[in-house]
Amino acid sequence: MGSGKSKKQYIMKKSLFIALEGIDGCGKSTQAALLSKTLEKWGHKVYSTFEPTDSAIGRMIRDIFSYRLEADHRVIAGLFVADRLEHILNKQHGLLQKRKEGYTIITDRYYLSSYAYQGAHMPMGWVMEANALSAQLLSPDLHIYINISPATGLGRISAGRPATELFETKENLQKVHQAYQEAIDKIKDKEHIFITNGERPPEKVAEDIRKAVWRLL
Ligand code: TYD
Repeated sequence: MGSGKSKKQYIMKKSLFIALEGIDGCGKSTQAALLSKTLEKWGHKVYSTFEPTDSAIGRMIRDIFSYRLEADHRVIAGLFVADRLEHILNKQHGLLQKRKEGYTIITDRYYLSSYAYQGAHMPMGWVMEANALSAQLLSPDLHIYINISPATGLGRISAGRPATELFETKENLQKVHQAYQEAIDKIKDKEHIFITNGERPPEKVAEDIRKAVWRLL
């Protein structure tokens, strides 16, 4: 990959906000870790983060997903909205604060996840409106969508874990996969989305992602 001195110097300065997306089992966490290493090599100060967050609201969401609490889909959608705003606005470690400090941010899921996962159960327009403030406060320089089939996702989930969480059924993964396509179609003219085929070996996917991110610099 080209590494002319002027570009290198430029890279040091330009901080990015990148969101990794895809259905369960798509390999986001692996790719987030690989991308973080790459960006550090390129001279970035990287802040890696995720949603649902580990705030009190995020913990409540995880309790719902593991069946410790019960909630209606509309309540879950509202909790994700609140968790995301907390993620963005927290005074000490919120994303806006991290941006100010010059970090390049990689988040494992962002509002496109809500469009797809909550949009699979309720009108997507409502979910998009409910997330409009987040999108307005901080929208990613790039959404990276790692595309796998629901069958592959389910196979990977059941191979890796004993119990499946709420949403991790074949029927739901199919709905979410479909909703991701719809959500991408809705925002692709306004936002920057890179789609990569996640059925391939992780190193191949990582290489595509590296190239897409490099093009932003
Ligand atoms: P995930 O990133 O898969 O976490 P883990 O690695 O702990 O399983 O996210 C957990 C679940 O949260 C996943 O099934 C997707 C769901 N989710 C939503 O339904 N809406 C959202 O807005 C987000 C961010 C996640």
